[in-house]
Amino acid sequence: MRISIVDHPLAQARLTIMRDERSDNSTFRAAASDLGTMLIYEASRDLPLDHFNTQTPVAVAEGARLKNPPIIVPVIRAGLSMVEPALSMIPDAQVGFIGLARDEDTHEPVPYLEALPDDLTGQPVFVVDPMLATGGSLLHAIRLLHGRGATDITAVCMVSAQPGVDALANSGLPVKLVTTAIDPGLDDNAYIVPGLGDAGDRMYGPRNIEF
Ligand code: PRP
Ligand code: URA
Repeated sequence: MRISIVDHPLAQARLTIMRDERSDNSTFRAAASDLGTMLIYEASRDLPLDHFNTQTPVAVAEGARLKNPPIIVPVIRAGLSMVEPALSMIPDAQVGFIGLARDEDTHEPVPYLEALPDDLTGQPVFVVDPMLATGGSLLHAIRLLHGRGATDITAVCMVSAQPGVDALANSGLPVKLVTTAIDPGLDDNAYIVPGLGDAGDRMYGPRNIEF
């Protein structure tokens, strides 16, 4: 699996604000928004371009635009924080949604929403979720996307844990990973160590979804 670690100083500084337990909800969201923009910028690095001529006030210049903008797929809730940063960089992107919540006891993802185009054949996909811990949630999302024909899938995560990275790499699924950090492990509750805590709660407050 191809892995890009975004080690830019500004990305690392935003991640540090997110890791800091003293950051309140709005500080955390602001840092996540900035970091989301940087990660999408990096994830877009190899997207193919159409080239065309454009007239400047002085002469003709070679112009470029994305040949096939990716569809952005946030894993709700925490992934929602990366939608506006992604759309600010790729304004003509479509957006699909996958809703998953980890069961606190089994740590398995429990699906509650799927709003995606039926056919993703030939469509680049950026699946965005700040946290890759056990990998269960992202693997579930990537299997859904692959099942609809996607073969060019980029997972964009702020913090990844080594067990989740290994799970993705060993899955055989066509996925690349763009992340700011790979942390060594997980605690007994499958939280990333050192991580940043519960990303969804730190952005939006505690959740209580009844299934
Ligand atoms: C978090 C996170 C990922 C998942 C990662 O979501 O946003 O989706 O956990 O864990 P995993 O790799 O072990 O599956 P959570 O289920 O807590 O839901 P939330 O975003 O609604 O808080
Ligand atoms: N989900 C989170 O939000 N944080 C973790 O550390 C693990 C899963």
